[in-house]
Amino acid sequence: MLAQVVLKDVNKVYGSLYAVNNVSFTVQDGEFVALVGPSGCGKTTTLNLIAGLITMSGGEIAIGDRMVTDLDPKDRDIAMVFQNYALYPNKTVFNNLAFPLQMRKQPKDVIDKKVREAAKVLDITHLLDRRPRELSGGQQQRVALGRALVRDPAVFLMDEPLSNLDAKLRVQMRSEIKRFHHNLNATIVYVTHDQLEAVTMADKMAVMHGGVLQQYDTPANVFSNPVNTFVASFVGSPAMSLIPVEVVTTGAATILKGTSGWEMPLSAANARKAQGSSNGKAVLGARHSTLKLHKAAKPDAVPGKIHTVEPTGDITFAQVLVDGEVVNISLEPSVAIQPDERVWLEFDQDRMHLFDATTTMALKAA
Ligand SMILES: Nc1ncnc2c1ncn2[C@@H]1O[C@H](COP(=O)(O)OP(=O)(O)OP(=O)(O)O)[C@@H](O)[C@H]1O
Ligand SMILES: [Mg+2]
Repeated sequence: MLAQVVLKDVNKVYGSLYAVNNVSFTVQDGEFVALVGPSGCGKTTTLNLIAGLITMSGGEIAIGDRMVTDLDPKDRDIAMVFQNYALYPNKTVFNNLAFPLQMRKQPKDVIDKKVREAAKVLDITHLLDRRPRELSGGQQQRVALGRALVRDPAVFLMDEPLSNLDAKLRVQMRSEIKRFHHNLNATIVYVTHDQLEAVTMADKMAVMHGGVLQQYDTPANVFSNPVNTFVASFVGSPAMSLIPVEVVTTGAATILKGTSGWEMPLSAANARKAQGSSNGKAVLGARHSTLKLHKAAKPDAVPGKIHTVEPTGDITFAQVLVDGEVVNISLEPSVAIQPDERVWLEFDQDRMHLFDATTTMALKAA
């Protein structure tokens, strides 16, 4: 069955609050899509609307080739995996997996076959006789995945399934869920507040903020072409640095001017973008890996002062204060720098970002 999921102008209103505000996107058959954004941005609400656990205030949802807007959750051909796995404590792993099939009155030999197949995919065959309390967190999460898997749904819906696990196990289960997706070619909608999980696992990410879908694209495109300052600073770690600037055009030259007076000439391509800013007010963005540190003044480099230095072993991160804004940079561990040291940052014209200060949207060349 074709298992694409289509959301069209989906809304959920609580009183005067738009928990989900006119959200539209399409998950293709076999695609892994991560819904990502800060707490309260509407991720769980969107997932629950797809599942049919709550009713929409407006819009349409289709799963496969069926409109499901008026269907009960049980008729939508979906399976959910939650943060708290909600396994039955008194049932063995086998019976936890078998239960959804027993509920559907499937024949015993079919149940047995499906449970063993799922157990094999998730590498929990040796655990089938145990009870949930005799399992580690990661094993319990695999059983929860297995319980969704035996139902052979058109779409898997997962809400922060890894957030109860410790950091190391989370990274391990991250690759296991990715493997699960790859092996089954399953359609998965996966909710997480962790942008790194979304970037590393998903084919596409839907970045939400305040109930509104900000950007829907591959992680690579979201990372390299964020549509606004929210997405720019949410995706990537450490975050993209954002500095308010003024755009000044004199004759043929367009420059950026910092609030402390520094000036940076722009390439022709960036000048065309910057000239589109409202009232000449823009925001300059740069990722840590694109900034070059100088210990002496350099023409066109931006002056700043080292705030903090954070060695991590193979890479050292530093925060530089520029016009009172924190700018993240990364350095070879061999570079010796001290807090309060004066430094100059060289921006890469091909990899810097320009946003409109008023609308926060990325500036495009006219
Ligand atoms: N039943 C409800 N009644 C009223 N407001 C609600 C209800 N459920 C959710 N909300 C509100 O809707 C908004 C979105 O909530 P939602 O649970 O979708 O956020 P989320 O992105 O999943 O956040 P988190 O990362 O914290 O889980 C929040 O402001 C929340 O307070
Ligand atoms: Mg949530």
